[in-house]
Amino acid sequence: MAKKVKKPEHAEQILDRRSFLNRLWAFLSIAAVAGVGWVVLGFFRPGKGREREGQAGGTVTCGSVDTFEPGSVTAFPIGQFYLARVAEGGFLALSRKCTHLGCTVPWVEGKKQFACPCHASAYDITGNVINGPASRALDLYQVSIENNVVIVDTRRTIRRSVFRKEQLVFPEGS
Ligand code: FES
Repeated sequence: MAKKVKKPEHAEQILDRRSFLNRLWAFLSIAAVAGVGWVVLGFFRPGKGREREGQAGGTVTCGSVDTFEPGSVTAFPIGQFYLARVAEGGFLALSRKCTHLGCTVPWVEGKKQFACPCHASAYDITGNVINGPASRALDLYQVSIENNVVIVDTRRTIRRSVFRKEQLVFPEGS
């Protein structure tokens, strides 16, 4: 009959310590990988309030007021908006997303309207609906004019149902 060999007590303590150290090591490795992943993701994620100058989701410096003729529409693909200057001289920054189902809406200079290629909605220079199925005007972005330079803030989309004159931003002194 085989005699049962009893392990010395300190051997069990060594095993417990080794198992504890292995677990600690595994935990620290996972924490290190998670930390690196967090930093990498943070690099690619648009941060809350972080400026993205010149891009969609940031502020875009469009140019001096005189660059834009009254009655003109200028596309800013980098900011994904149109800068419209109405005949009276005021500015609007219009989202290029159709308010029906979100297709990109091109400006058709010959017709002086935005014409959606998806389901034929059309909008005038102020973004007001001329033809459905879209039921509300194109969204806006905040326009400001500083030292005669037009700046558009694309961090926040402004929803609206129709164009109103108060939405226009005029250059100082006009
Ligand atoms: Fe523009 Fe439907 S997405 S009309």
